[in-house]
Amino acid sequence: MTVLVIGGAGYIGSHTVRQLEKAGFDVLIVLDNLVKGHREAVGNAQFVLADINDKSALEEVFATHKIDAVMHFAAYSLVGESVVKPDIYYRNNVGGTLNLLEAMVRYEVPYLVFSSTAAVYGEPQEVPIPEEHPTIPTNPYGATKLAVEGMLKWFGEAYCLKYASLRYFNAAGADIAGDIGEDHNPESHLIPLVLKAALGNVPEIKVFGNDYPTPDGTCIRDYIHVTDLADAHVKALEYLTGGGKSEVFNLGNGQGFSVLEVLRTAEEVVGNTIPYSIAPRRAGDPAVLVASADKAKRVLGWQPQYGELKTIISTAWSWHKKHPKGFGDK
Ligand SMILES: NC(=O)c1ccc[n+]([C@@H]2O[C@H](COP(=O)([O-])OP(=O)(O)OC[C@H]3O[C@@H](n4cnc5c(N)ncnc54)[C@H](O)[C@@H]3O)[C@@H](O)[C@H]2O)c1
Repeated sequence: MTVLVIGGAGYIGSHTVRQLEKAGFDVLIVLDNLVKGHREAVGNAQFVLADINDKSALEEVFATHKIDAVMHFAAYSLVGESVVKPDIYYRNNVGGTLNLLEAMVRYEVPYLVFSSTAAVYGEPQEVPIPEEHPTIPTNPYGATKLAVEGMLKWFGEAYCLKYASLRYFNAAGADIAGDIGEDHNPESHLIPLVLKAALGNVPEIKVFGNDYPTPDGTCIRDYIHVTDLADAHVKALEYLTGGGKSEVFNLGNGQGFSVLEVLRTAEEVVGNTIPYSIAPRRAGDPAVLVASADKAKRVLGWQPQYGELKTIISTAWSWHKKHPKGFGDK
Protein backbone atom coordinates (compact mmCIF):
# COMPACT_ATOMS: atom_id res chain seq x y z
CA MET A 1 0.00 0.00 0.00
CA THR A 2 1.36 3.41 -0.98
CA VAL A 3 0.53 6.22 1.44
CA LEU A 4 1.01 9.86 0.50
CA VAL A 5 1.66 11.97 3.61
CA ILE A 6 1.00 15.64 2.92
CA GLY A 7 2.76 17.83 5.50
CA GLY A 8 4.87 14.85 6.61
CA ALA A 9 7.90 17.05 7.33
CA GLY A 10 5.97 18.76 10.14
CA TYR A 11 5.63 17.83 13.78
CA ILE A 12 2.71 15.40 13.82
CA GLY A 13 3.20 14.24 10.21
CA SER A 14 6.82 13.17 10.76
CA HIS A 15 5.89 11.20 13.89
CA THR A 16 3.09 9.53 11.93
CA VAL A 17 5.52 8.55 9.16
CA ARG A 18 7.61 6.75 11.82
CA GLN A 19 4.50 4.98 13.13
CA LEU A 20 3.41 3.96 9.62
CA GLU A 21 6.89 2.49 9.03
CA LYS A 22 6.64 0.52 12.27
CA ALA A 23 3.19 -0.76 11.23
CA GLY A 24 4.72 -2.14 8.02
CA PHE A 25 3.56 0.42 5.44
CA ASP A 26 6.62 0.25 3.23
CA VAL A 27 5.87 2.82 0.52
CA LEU A 28 5.58 6.23 2.06
CA ILE A 29 5.78 9.43 0.09
CA VAL A 30 6.01 12.71 1.96
CA LEU A 31 4.91 15.85 0.14
CA ASP A 32 5.73 19.11 1.90
CA ASN A 33 6.67 22.65 0.88
CA LEU A 34 8.93 22.96 3.98
CA VAL A 35 7.42 26.36 4.78
CA LYS A 36 6.98 25.11 8.34
CA GLY A 37 8.44 21.60 8.25
CA HIS A 38 11.96 20.19 8.27
CA ARG A 39 13.58 17.99 5.63
CA GLU A 40 15.55 16.23 8.37
CA ALA A 41 12.30 15.09 10.06
CA VAL A 42 11.20 13.08 7.01
CA GLY A 43 13.56 10.15 7.68
CA ASN A 44 13.55 7.29 5.17
CA ALA A 45 10.36 8.12 3.31
CA GLN A 46 10.52 9.36 -0.29
CA PHE A 47 10.33 13.14 -0.31
CA VAL A 48 8.62 15.47 -2.78
CA LEU A 49 9.18 19.19 -2.31
CA ALA A 50 5.87 20.67 -3.49
CA ASP A 51 2.98 22.87 -2.46
CA ILE A 52 -0.63 21.69 -2.45
CA ASN A 53 -1.58 25.05 -3.93
CA ASP A 54 0.38 24.03 -7.03
CA LYS A 55 -2.11 21.91 -8.97
CA SER A 56 0.36 20.71 -11.57
CA ALA A 57 2.84 19.53 -8.90
CA LEU A 58 0.04 17.60 -7.20
CA GLU A 59 -1.04 16.15 -10.53
CA GLU A 60 2.49 14.92 -11.17
CA VAL A 61 2.68 13.08 -7.83
CA PHE A 62 -0.61 11.28 -8.44
CA ALA A 63 0.30 10.52 -12.06
CA THR A 64 3.74 9.14 -11.14
CA HIS A 65 2.78 6.97 -8.16
CA LYS A 66 -0.17 4.68 -7.64
CA ILE A 67 -1.37 6.27 -4.39
CA ASP A 68 -3.72 4.13 -2.28
CA ALA A 69 -4.34 6.49 0.63
CA VAL A 70 -3.57 10.03 1.74
CA MET A 71 -2.87 11.49 5.16
CA HIS A 72 -3.26 15.25 5.14
CA PHE A 73 -1.45 17.28 7.82
CA ALA A 74 -0.58 20.38 5.79
CA ALA A 75 -2.13 23.59 7.10
CA TYR A 76 -1.34 26.86 8.80
CA SER A 77 -2.35 26.58 12.42
CA LEU A 78 -1.57 29.74 14.40
CA VAL A 79 -4.87 30.93 15.86
CA GLY A 80 -3.77 34.56 16.39
CA GLU A 81 -2.30 34.86 12.89
CA SER A 82 -5.52 33.45 11.41
CA VAL A 83 -7.49 36.30 13.00
CA VAL A 84 -5.37 38.97 11.30
CA LYS A 85 -4.73 37.07 8.02
CA PRO A 86 -7.84 34.96 7.38
CA ASP A 87 -7.16 35.11 3.61
CA ILE A 88 -3.95 33.08 3.78
CA TYR A 89 -5.65 30.56 6.07
CA TYR A 90 -8.57 30.03 3.70
CA ARG A 91 -6.18 29.86 0.71
CA ASN A 92 -3.86 27.29 2.26
CA ASN A 93 -6.13 25.24 4.51
CA VAL A 94 -9.29 25.23 2.39
CA GLY A 95 -8.04 26.05 -1.15
CA GLY A 96 -5.06 23.69 -0.85
CA THR A 97 -7.26 20.89 0.46
CA LEU A 98 -9.74 21.40 -2.38
CA ASN A 99 -6.86 20.91 -4.87
CA LEU A 100 -5.90 17.72 -3.05
CA LEU A 101 -9.45 16.35 -3.00
CA GLU A 102 -9.88 17.09 -6.71
CA ALA A 103 -6.68 15.16 -7.47
CA MET A 104 -7.79 12.27 -5.25
CA VAL A 105 -11.12 12.09 -7.06
CA ARG A 106 -9.42 12.23 -10.50
CA TYR A 107 -7.03 9.43 -9.58
CA GLU A 108 -9.70 7.48 -7.65
CA VAL A 109 -7.79 7.42 -4.36
CA PRO A 110 -10.39 6.16 -1.87
CA TYR A 111 -8.97 6.87 1.62
CA LEU A 112 -8.11 10.07 3.46
CA VAL A 113 -7.08 10.69 7.05
CA PHE A 114 -7.40 14.41 7.82
CA SER A 115 -5.92 16.55 10.62
CA SER A 116 -8.77 18.48 12.15
CA THR A 117 -8.78 20.24 15.49
CA ALA A 118 -10.62 20.85 18.75
CA ALA A 119 -10.84 24.48 17.53
CA VAL A 120 -13.89 23.47 15.44
CA TYR A 121 -15.95 23.37 18.67
CA GLY A 122 -15.36 26.93 19.87
CA GLU A 123 -16.47 27.75 23.43
CA PRO A 124 -17.31 24.39 25.12
CA GLN A 125 -20.87 23.91 26.29
CA GLU A 126 -19.95 20.64 28.04
CA VAL A 127 -16.67 19.02 29.11
CA PRO A 128 -15.35 16.46 28.20
CA ILE A 129 -16.30 17.52 24.67
CA PRO A 130 -17.95 14.77 22.60
CA GLU A 131 -17.94 14.71 18.76
CA GLU A 132 -21.67 15.68 18.72
CA HIS A 133 -20.90 18.97 20.48
CA PRO A 134 -22.00 22.00 18.39
CA THR A 135 -19.25 23.29 16.09
CA ILE A 136 -19.07 27.08 16.39
CA PRO A 137 -15.41 28.03 15.84
CA THR A 138 -14.33 31.33 17.38
CA ASN A 139 -11.43 31.98 14.98
CA PRO A 140 -10.65 31.60 11.26
CA TYR A 141 -8.24 28.71 11.86
CA GLY A 142 -11.01 26.57 13.38
CA ALA A 143 -13.42 27.79 10.69
CA THR A 144 -11.08 26.62 7.89
CA LYS A 145 -10.84 23.14 9.44
CA LEU A 146 -14.62 22.99 9.79
CA ALA A 147 -14.97 24.10 6.16
CA VAL A 148 -12.74 21.19 5.11
CA GLU A 149 -14.85 18.79 7.18
CA GLY A 150 -17.85 20.08 5.23
CA MET A 151 -16.05 19.42 1.92
CA LEU A 152 -15.16 15.91 3.07
CA LYS A 153 -18.78 15.14 3.86
CA TRP A 154 -20.03 16.24 0.44
CA PHE A 155 -17.11 14.73 -1.52
CA GLY A 156 -17.72 11.50 0.41
CA GLU A 157 -21.35 11.48 -0.65
CA ALA A 158 -20.65 12.35 -4.28
CA TYR A 159 -17.50 10.29 -4.94
CA CYS A 160 -15.94 7.09 -3.65
CA LEU A 161 -14.01 8.82 -0.86
CA LYS A 162 -13.84 7.42 2.68
CA TYR A 163 -12.33 9.67 5.31
CA ALA A 164 -11.50 9.90 8.99
CA SER A 165 -11.38 13.44 10.33
CA LEU A 166 -9.29 13.47 13.50
CA ARG A 167 -9.94 16.38 15.84
CA TYR A 168 -6.77 16.68 17.90
CA PHE A 169 -6.59 18.49 21.19
CA ASN A 170 -3.03 19.61 22.21
CA ALA A 171 -0.32 17.48 20.61
CA ALA A 172 2.80 17.33 22.77
CA GLY A 173 5.91 15.26 23.51
CA ALA A 174 8.45 13.72 21.17
CA ASP A 175 9.41 10.40 19.64
CA ILE A 176 10.72 8.02 22.31
CA ALA A 177 13.86 7.37 20.22
CA GLY A 178 14.59 11.10 20.51
CA ASP A 179 15.38 11.73 16.81
CA ILE A 180 12.42 13.97 16.03
CA GLY A 181 10.40 16.39 18.09
CA GLU A 182 8.47 19.63 18.07
CA ASP A 183 10.13 22.57 16.30
CA HIS A 184 7.63 25.23 15.26
CA ASN A 185 8.71 28.73 14.30
CA PRO A 186 7.21 30.73 15.88
CA GLU A 187 6.42 28.36 18.74
CA SER A 188 3.01 28.92 20.30
CA HIS A 189 2.57 25.69 22.29
CA LEU A 190 3.01 25.66 26.04
CA ILE A 191 5.21 22.58 26.60
CA PRO A 192 7.98 23.45 24.09
CA LEU A 193 7.90 27.06 25.30
CA VAL A 194 8.30 25.94 28.91
CA LEU A 195 11.26 23.75 27.91
CA LYS A 196 12.80 26.57 25.89
CA ALA A 197 12.52 28.73 29.02
CA ALA A 198 14.24 25.92 30.97
CA LEU A 199 17.07 26.00 28.40
CA GLY A 200 17.27 29.80 28.63
CA ASN A 201 16.17 30.19 24.98
CA VAL A 202 13.15 32.27 25.99
CA PRO A 203 13.36 34.60 29.00
CA GLU A 204 10.15 33.48 30.79
CA ILE A 205 6.72 31.94 30.36
CA LYS A 206 3.67 34.14 30.33
CA VAL A 207 0.71 32.53 32.10
CA PHE A 208 -2.34 34.14 30.53
CA GLY A 209 -4.81 34.55 33.40
CA ASN A 210 -4.87 33.04 36.90
CA ASP A 211 -8.47 33.94 37.71
CA TYR A 212 -10.27 31.25 35.71
CA PRO A 213 -12.83 29.04 37.50
CA THR A 214 -10.32 26.15 37.78
CA PRO A 215 -8.62 24.76 40.94
CA ASP A 216 -5.45 26.88 40.52
CA GLY A 217 -7.02 29.65 38.41
CA THR A 218 -5.09 28.81 35.21
CA CYS A 219 -6.49 27.29 32.00
CA ILE A 220 -6.82 23.53 31.70
CA ARG A 221 -5.94 21.77 28.43
CA ASP A 222 -5.86 18.18 27.19
CA TYR A 223 -2.32 17.14 26.15
CA ILE A 224 -1.97 14.06 23.98
CA HIS A 225 1.40 12.47 23.20
CA VAL A 226 2.34 12.85 19.54
CA THR A 227 3.19 9.14 19.25
CA ASP A 228 -0.29 8.26 20.53
CA LEU A 229 -1.72 10.64 17.92
CA ALA A 230 0.41 9.00 15.24
CA ASP A 231 -0.80 5.58 16.33
CA ALA A 232 -4.42 6.76 16.01
CA HIS A 233 -3.70 7.72 12.37
CA VAL A 234 -2.47 4.21 11.60
CA LYS A 235 -5.55 2.76 13.29
CA ALA A 236 -7.84 5.18 11.41
CA LEU A 237 -6.32 4.14 8.08
CA GLU A 238 -6.64 0.45 8.95
CA TYR A 239 -10.26 1.11 9.96
CA LEU A 240 -11.03 2.73 6.59
CA THR A 241 -9.25 0.11 4.50
CA GLY A 242 -11.05 -2.55 6.57
CA GLY A 243 -14.40 -1.19 5.37
CA GLY A 244 -15.15 1.36 8.12
CA LYS A 245 -17.43 4.25 7.20
CA SER A 246 -16.36 7.88 7.16
CA GLU A 247 -16.24 9.30 10.67
CA VAL A 248 -15.07 12.16 12.85
CA PHE A 249 -13.03 11.26 15.94
CA ASN A 250 -11.70 13.32 18.85
CA LEU A 251 -8.14 12.51 19.85
CA GLY A 252 -7.19 13.54 23.36
CA ASN A 253 -6.18 12.16 26.73
CA GLY A 254 -9.59 12.74 28.27
CA GLN A 255 -7.71 14.35 31.14
CA GLY A 256 -6.83 18.00 31.59
CA PHE A 257 -3.79 19.69 33.09
CA SER A 258 -3.56 23.33 34.12
CA VAL A 259 -0.83 25.68 32.93
CA LEU A 260 0.68 25.70 36.43
CA GLU A 261 0.58 21.89 36.61
CA VAL A 262 2.51 21.79 33.32
CA LEU A 263 5.05 24.25 34.71
CA ARG A 264 5.50 22.37 38.02
CA THR A 265 5.82 19.01 36.24
CA ALA A 266 8.34 20.47 33.79
CA GLU A 267 10.37 21.83 36.73
CA GLU A 268 10.42 18.32 38.21
CA VAL A 269 11.54 16.82 34.86
CA VAL A 270 14.29 19.37 34.16
CA GLY A 271 15.36 19.60 37.83
CA ASN A 272 15.28 23.38 37.90
CA THR A 273 12.90 26.30 38.34
CA ILE A 274 11.33 27.81 35.23
CA PRO A 275 10.72 31.57 35.24
CA TYR A 276 7.14 32.72 34.63
CA SER A 277 4.89 35.71 35.14
CA ILE A 278 1.14 36.15 35.23
CA ALA A 279 -0.28 38.12 32.28
CA PRO A 280 -3.88 39.16 31.51
CA ARG A 281 -6.26 36.58 30.02
CA ARG A 282 -6.19 36.23 26.20
CA ALA A 283 -9.45 36.91 24.38
CA GLY A 284 -11.25 33.70 23.41
CA ASP A 285 -9.32 31.32 25.70
CA PRO A 286 -11.88 28.96 27.31
CA ALA A 287 -11.17 27.92 30.93
CA VAL A 288 -11.22 24.18 30.22
CA LEU A 289 -10.79 22.18 26.98
CA VAL A 290 -10.81 18.43 27.45
CA ALA A 291 -11.75 15.76 24.91
CA SER A 292 -14.00 12.81 25.20
CA ALA A 293 -11.98 10.29 23.16
CA ASP A 294 -14.31 7.38 23.92
CA LYS A 295 -15.40 7.05 20.29
CA ALA A 296 -11.82 6.62 18.97
CA LYS A 297 -11.15 4.05 21.68
CA ARG A 298 -14.35 2.15 20.96
CA VAL A 299 -14.39 2.26 17.16
CA LEU A 300 -10.66 2.32 16.32
CA GLY A 301 -9.47 0.24 19.29
CA TRP A 302 -7.07 3.09 20.09
CA GLN A 303 -5.54 3.35 23.54
CA PRO A 304 -3.07 6.13 24.39
CA GLN A 305 0.17 4.68 25.81
CA TYR A 306 2.00 7.83 26.87
CA GLY A 307 -0.77 9.80 28.60
CA GLU A 308 1.10 10.69 31.82
CA LEU A 309 2.01 14.38 31.83
CA LYS A 310 5.48 13.51 33.16
CA THR A 311 6.06 11.09 30.27
CA ILE A 312 4.89 13.65 27.73
CA ILE A 313 7.20 16.32 29.14
CA SER A 314 10.15 13.92 29.63
CA THR A 315 10.11 12.81 25.99
CA ALA A 316 9.88 16.44 24.84
CA TRP A 317 12.73 17.37 27.21
CA SER A 318 14.99 14.60 25.85
CA TRP A 319 14.52 16.00 22.35
CA HIS A 320 14.94 19.66 23.35
CA LYS A 321 18.10 18.89 25.33
CA LYS A 322 19.61 17.09 22.33
CA HIS A 323 18.38 19.74 19.86
CA PRO A 324 18.40 23.08 21.73
CA LYS A 325 18.12 24.92 18.41
CA GLY A 326 15.54 22.51 16.97
CA PHE A 327 16.35 20.93 13.62
CA GLY A 328 18.67 23.82 12.91
CA ASP A 329 17.67 24.15 9.27
CA LYS A 330 15.79 27.45 9.70
N1 LIG B 1 0.06 20.65 16.88
C1 LIG B 1 -1.15 20.58 17.43
O1 LIG B 1 -1.28 20.58 18.67
C2 LIG B 1 -2.38 20.49 16.57
C3 LIG B 1 -3.64 20.48 17.21
C4 LIG B 1 -4.77 20.38 16.42
C5 LIG B 1 -4.66 20.26 15.04
N2 LIG B 1 -3.43 20.31 14.45
C6 LIG B 1 -3.36 20.18 12.98
O2 LIG B 1 -2.49 19.11 12.69
C7 LIG B 1 -1.75 19.37 11.49
C8 LIG B 1 -0.27 19.19 11.76
O3 LIG B 1 0.11 20.05 12.81
P1 LIG B 1 1.64 20.24 13.17
O4 LIG B 1 1.70 20.79 14.54
O5 LIG B 1 2.38 19.01 12.82
O6 LIG B 1 2.00 21.42 12.15
P2 LIG B 1 3.37 21.67 11.33
O7 LIG B 1 3.33 23.08 10.91
O8 LIG B 1 4.52 21.18 12.13
O9 LIG B 1 3.16 20.72 10.06
C9 LIG B 1 2.45 21.10 8.92
C10 LIG B 1 3.31 20.76 7.71
O10 LIG B 1 2.58 21.10 6.52
C11 LIG B 1 3.45 21.77 5.63
N3 LIG B 1 2.62 22.63 4.77
C12 LIG B 1 1.86 23.69 5.14
N4 LIG B 1 1.25 24.21 4.05
C13 LIG B 1 1.62 23.46 2.98
C14 LIG B 1 1.33 23.50 1.60
N5 LIG B 1 0.56 24.45 1.09
N6 LIG B 1 1.88 22.57 0.80
C15 LIG B 1 2.70 21.60 1.29
N7 LIG B 1 3.01 21.52 2.60
C16 LIG B 1 2.49 22.44 3.44
C17 LIG B 1 4.42 22.54 6.51
O11 LIG B 1 5.63 22.85 5.85
C18 LIG B 1 4.61 21.55 7.68
O12 LIG B 1 5.69 20.67 7.42
C19 LIG B 1 -2.15 20.77 11.05
O13 LIG B 1 -3.13 20.63 10.05
C20 LIG B 1 -2.75 21.38 12.30
O14 LIG B 1 -3.74 22.34 11.98
C21 LIG B 1 -2.30 20.42 15.19
